[in-house]
Amino acid sequence: MEINKIAVIGAGAMGSGIAYWSSFNGFNVSVTEQNDELLKRGMQKIKDNVITGVNKGKITPKQAEEIMAKIKGTVNLAEAVKDADIVIEAVFENMDLKKEIFRKLDASAPKHAVLATNTSALGITEIASVTKRPEKVVGMHFFNPVPAMKLVEIVRGNKTSDETVKIVDDLAHALKKETVTCRDSPGFIVNRILGPILNEAVLLLQEGIASREDIDKAMTLGTNFPMGPLRLADFVGLDVALEVSRTLEKGFGEKFKPPSLLVEKVKRGELGIKTRKGFYEY
Ligand code: 3HC
Repeated sequence: MEINKIAVIGAGAMGSGIAYWSSFNGFNVSVTEQNDELLKRGMQKIKDNVITGVNKGKITPKQAEEIMAKIKGTVNLAEAVKDADIVIEAVFENMDLKKEIFRKLDASAPKHAVLATNTSALGITEIASVTKRPEKVVGMHFFNPVPAMKLVEIVRGNKTSDETVKIVDDLAHALKKETVTCRDSPGFIVNRILGPILNEAVLLLQEGIASREDIDKAMTLGTNFPMGPLRLADFVGLDVALEVSRTLEKGFGEKFKPPSLLVEKVKRGELGIKTRKGFYEY
């Protein structure tokens, strides 16, 4: 299937990154948020990505303008998806919210459109169950920061068709990403492994075994992590890390239980870089 238009639902760190990267690679994009204020912030995040692209010498100022011109922002979800060939949902990690969105997408997107979710860990089959096209629902999991991370994880729900998997695999390659494919299971591949790593780093801090700096230094110098796990948790967002951990705990039990320090930090609104305070101050 030829993809001309990509609709992105949600313009947080992931949605804005996906919108930018799709336009960067030549696609027409619509992006939608719940209200004008969030849309304005999302469009600014897209511009920040464009500026980074220029500063890193990846695009010229003229190309930057062309990239922005290909991205249309709207607060009207039905309008955003009405002529889309694929929709990529990137809203907050909450099953009820995702189901509500997928009901709306199913009602408003063209019949041929694939409905993909960028969920970090939630069940694709369950999200697909609220639509009349479960064979066209699939996980398309990008990584943060989208322009720099080379992987897209493709997750098959119980009813996802081979054709749908091929469409998103082709799209991921058109977006210059590598892909892996897996069955629907909490946390898929990456977050099932990464979730416990982040949790153990938080537990080391919580138990007073080492300082935040030494935990991160140990993993960057001892295992060549590009950034330490506590800094990475701040980067991903502690609210997202907590939701991933909760989904893993629900699926696999006690060993994935989120550490109390992570729960407390989220309760206090210390969510990492986006709130300027997490395990570090920004
Ligand atoms: N436009 C175009 N290209 C861009 C760009 C942009 N806006 N931003 C970056 N790039 C390009 C750069 O030019 C560079 O290209 P090159 O390889 O050809 O030189 C490439 O992307 C890498 O970018 P940087 O040079 O900025 O990358 P750094 O080497 O400085 O590393 C980092 C920064 C990528 C953030 C690195 O520290 C890192 O990998 N950290 C770990 C990140 C991580 O693990 N993310 C996954 C989190 S888990 C997740 O997201 C899943 C979720 O479900 C929780």
